Amino acid sequence: MTSNKYDHRSVLKNEILENIRKHAEINVFCDCTVGEGGHIEFLKDKLDNWTFIGIDRDKKILKRTKERLGDSILLFNDSYANIRRYFDKDIGVFLLDLGLSMYHIKSSERGFSWQMPEEPLDMRFSTNTKKTAAYILNNYPQKDLNRIFEEYGDIINPEKITKSIILFRKKNKFKIIKDLFDAIAIEEPSHFRKFLSKLFQALRIEVNNELEQLRSFLQNMDGIKNKSALFMFISYHSGEDKILKNTIRELKIQSKIVIINKHVIKPSYKEIKANKAARSAKMRIIKYL
Ligand SMILES: C[S@@+](CC[C@H](N)C(=O)[O-])C[C@H]1O[C@@H](n2cnc3c(N)ncnc32)[C@H](O)[C@@H]1O
Repeated sequence: MTSNKYDHRSVLKNEILENIRKHAEINVFCDCTVGEGGHIEFLKDKLDNWTFIGIDRDKKILKRTKERLGDSILLFNDSYANIRRYFDKDIGVFLLDLGLSMYHIKSSERGFSWQMPEEPLDMRFSTNTKKTAAYILNNYPQKDLNRIFEEYGDIINPEKITKSIILFRKKNKFKIIKDLFDAIAIEEPSHFRKFLSKLFQALRIEVNNELEQLRSFLQNMDGIKNKSALFMFISYHSGEDKILKNTIRELKIQSKIVIINKHVIKPSYKEIKANKAARSAKMRIIKYL
């Protein structure tokens, strides 16, 4: 597979490079959400004498990463929540590019996209965890379904949908994506793109405990001993960004960090035109003192 055969297009690559060049003090880069390895592939051509490390929760995606980047990169199948395990590697730059990879949507066959009606309602990044989207739809009480659709999907008044889900599961079991369309009476999914994207985002965040994972990372990050470490965060959802913003504010008040970018860094118009998936990306960068 050559580079353009990979599913995912890495975001904000030039902005990441520029900030590494300006602010990094130790030549070890860790992509804590390495995915198919696009960021590292880009950076390793530009940065001489650097060591690169990649972590991803998804064991399957790491097969592609290894094939793409070769043996010179250290790859670990782990969650970034366990970042402390890697502190002995004297890492100078940590990147957390949250959310999912296009690989998950296009190739994983784990039901990450409403455009794949025959795929299972799975949505797990790591198949070692138990909770799937089908489990949530078949078992969560209505009030919890309401909460996740409201909080993680920004769906206003989700009661009508969750009532239909509860009714459906009295007689049927949710297994594949099409079951969800049947339950909420959607015949032409393409007419409901925005709504379905929100619904799927909410389920994915709950399946993978994404906000909890991020909170654990941030708590563990604060145990960093290498005091010049740079942390770069790319978020795509208001829930993630709020957690990041509040943590950064708190660390700044405690004089533990400096904030590198006064304003959130967003992809250029040119990047968004070339890669629509980048449109909601927001990058925040901090450096420990
Ligand atoms: C947006 S993609 C990363 C893209 C990548 N940085 C690149 O080079 O383009 C997000 C990745 O994070 C991974 N991921 C999600 N939750 C994770 C977690 N808790 N720990 C580690 N990786 C995680 C996903 O499997 C996915 O591959």
